[in-house]
Amino acid sequence: MYKIGIITMSDKGSQGQREDVSGATIREMVQGLGNVEQYRIVPDDPEVIKATLIEFADQRGIDLILTTGGTGLGPRDNTPEATLAVIHRQVPGLAEAIRAESLKKTPKAMLSRAVSGTRGKTLIINLPGSVKGVRECLEVVLPVLPHGLEILT
Ligand code: MTE
Repeated sequence: MYKIGIITMSDKGSQGQREDVSGATIREMVQGLGNVEQYRIVPDDPEVIKATLIEFADQRGIDLILTTGGTGLGPRDNTPEATLAVIHRQVPGLAEAIRAESLKKTPKAMLSRAVSGTRGKTLIINLPGSVKGVRECLEVVLPVLPHGLEILT
């Protein structure tokens, strides 16, 4: 069983003004893959996002970090840049597969700038913020994650 971390990017959620259904959806979907050992709701602040990703990967020994939200075009959508700043290697195929499959469901999928990559032995995958987006995107990559994590860790 892998160690999983969930980070929800949401200014409102981090202030307790919005229930985090997307984070709960990720938790439910990864049940067969590992244990959710870290979970945090953070504001859409690039420095906080970077620090949280680094903490989960380097200090907490998380194998897989799934983020939700902040991947779009809004002025406070900082997740892809913060992720790119801390990963060592991109895994473009994951983001490409997510976008390709998502485009079959909604043309709005082209508005997500989500990225995926590795930092040390940790795999980081950005997912969109909506519950529907989380479901549709995570189900695309979930089947290959056991093999990917086995190679990485
Ligand atoms: N991908 C899938 N599969 N399903 C969706 O409903 N929503 C899109 C897109 N990706 C969506 C999706 C929308 S509407 C936006 S604006 C972008 O993700 C960015 O979402 P975010 O800013 O919440 O991360």
